[in-house]
Amino acid sequence: MKYLFKYLIIILLLNSCKTDKNTLNAIEHEVPKSPELSQESKIFLGNRLFSEKTCITCHAINAERKAPSVVEIMRVYKRNHADIVLFLKGHSKPIVDTTASQVAIMQANIDGFLKKITDVELNAIATYMMHVDELTKNQ
Ligand code: HEC
Repeated sequence: MKYLFKYLIIILLLNSCKTDKNTLNAIEHEVPKSPELSQESKIFLGNRLFSEKTCITCHAINAERKAPSVVEIMRVYKRNHADIVLFLKGHSKPIVDTTASQVAIMQANIDGFLKKITDVELNAIATYMMHVDELTKNQ
């Protein structure tokens, strides 16, 4: 009888360990491995990268210089429900200025330093570009 009692306790203990492990697993699934940046953080980071990665030297915010302005790019992308990240990754064709010489200039960027950029950074740049009008409105 004594042994049986001990045996029961051991089984109970083992079972409770199992439940703990299951609960832990459930918690791990709920917490994302790499938390998404907030919209504000993306815009902030994108703004910084737009200067650091020299995009700003060709793309002014609101004036057409060597290249289409960010506002113009954004207008075309919004109208076409297009994805800037896809373009920057080289997975979609240009839709803003399709003149071969202009496309070649931008293509040189994509082939060069943009290959070394992370998805999070690309996403931040695209988010910044798509929200640039909201930023200038508040200034
Ligand atoms: C040396 C000048 C130059 C630099 C630097 C540059 N671009 Fe461009 N970009 C262009 C030109 C010219 C075009 C117009 C051709 C075109 O639309 O593809 C363009 C077009 C674009 C477009 C629109 C593409 C389309 O669909 O037509 C996006 C988006 C863009 N650039 C993003 C960027 C980002 C982000 C950076 C920085 C990482 C950057 N550019 C750096 C010259 C530049």
